This record gives sequence, structure tokens and C-alpha cells, in this order.
Amino acid sequence: MADPTKNGFTHEKIETSNFLMIVLILVAIAFGGLVEIVPLFFQASTTQPIKGVEPYTALQLAGRDVYIREGCYNCHSQMIRPLRAETLRYGHYSVAGEFVYDHPFQWGSKRTGPDLHRVGGRYSDEWHRIHLNNPRDVVPESNMPAYSWLDKGLVSPDEIATHMRALRKVGVPYTDAAINNSAQEVKDKTDMDALVAYLQALGRALK
Ligand code: HEC
Repeated sequence: MADPTKNGFTHEKIETSNFLMIVLILVAIAFGGLVEIVPLFFQASTTQPIKGVEPYTALQLAGRDVYIREGCYNCHSQMIRPLRAETLRYGHYSVAGEFVYDHPFQWGSKRTGPDLHRVGGRYSDEWHRIHLNNPRDVVPESNMPAYSWLDKGLVSPDEIATHMRALRKVGVPYTDAAINNSAQEVKDKTDMDALVAYLQALGRALK
């Protein structure tokens, strides 16, 4: 057998050099990471919307901004895991093709409150209004904060078209007509109207 020490290279060299060890570990991890992550950018199952997923309307999009502004994600996830306990409680588990128009997605992992991914259509608009205004009015034991100011703030019609154009740059297929009508669509709508429209749109493609 050939003696591996003959050409002057042994594994011992790596194991006794901090520098070599660190650099080679980084190379190995980077390679492993790329092999796992890069294909996800090209697979249809992670880049194509599933049937029934539409870009948010202007009003829903404005509601999504309210959701982010108010920090709802601090207590609510939007990601149902494929576990029996979750699918029994919330419905069909979340799939990647449902989030392709979400920039950024609101998956989250902190659940002080329930997951909201399939909350669309579960309650009436009126229920949401009462609940957001003061959760205790419909769920007495709730410790969710009251968002009583949402009814007072108006959605700004000036920004929504710019927002939609920016989303179009990252692949959301907004038409010119949708963008041109957006200011009209959100005119005189309150933050509450927008947020409820957003909540009602969540997770409806898969039931
Ligand atoms: C401090 C944590 C907390 C924050 C922040 C919070 N929630 Fe909640 N949320 C809860 C809890 C707890 C519940 C369960 C009790 C209830 O229904 O009120 C809940 C319930 C809900 C429900 C009913 C879900 C269901 O399936 O019954 C909706 C819808 C909801 N929250 C929306 C929101 C929105 C929108 C925001 C941001 C404006 C928000 N929450 C912020 C804790 C929170």
C-alpha cells in the first residue's frame, strides 16, 4: 500500500492547524448549505403559486402593512405544520406555493395566539371588527391587546401604487390596471377595513 505520509500530506496536518481546520469546516458547511438551498430557488413547488393563489388586492395589501406595523406577527404565526394536532385544529398544512407573493412572508414561530394561516373565512368581517376593537367582547378569556385605533386611521392612497410596483419588480404579477386603480380602491378605507380584508384572504387556496 502506498504510504500517505510520503507526499507530505496527512489528516493530522488539518487536525493540528486551527486555521486549516476552520477554513475547511467553513468550506464544507458552505457547500452543504448551497446544495440544500440553491435548488429551492428553481423548483416549481417553491416558486410557483398553487391554484387559487392570487396577488393581494390593493386593500388586502394595505391590510398586510397594518398587520406588520402593529406587530401581529409577534404573537401569531402563519405556518401550519404537517402534524396531525395542527391540521385537526387549523386545517390543511401550509405549502410553499401559497406564499410566493408574500414579500416578506409572515410565517413566524411565536404562537402566543393561534396560527392565522387559515383564518380567512372562518369568522365574519363583523366578528373581526369587534374582536380587533376589543378581543374580550367575543373571547372573554383572551389576552390579545385591543386595537381600538384601527377604526380611526385611514389607509394612505398615495403609497399603495408604489408598493405594488415594487412588488411587481420581485415577481408579483400586478397588471397596470390593478396598479392604476389601487388608489381608488383604498380611498376612504380605514386601517380596520384593510386589515379585515387581509385576514379574510388568508389561506383560502387550500381548505
Ligand atoms: C400579545 C399577543 C397578541 C398580539 C400582539 C395579537 N394577538 Fe391576536 N390573538 C392572541 C391570542 C392569545 C388569541 C386567542 C384568543 C382570542 O381569540 O382573542 C388571538 C386571536 C386572534 C384571532 C382569532 C384566531 C382564531 O382562529 O380564533 C385573530 C384573527 C387575531 N388574533 C388577529 C390578530 C391581529 C390582526 C393582530 C394584530 C393587529 C393580533 N391578533 C395581535 C394574541 C395576540
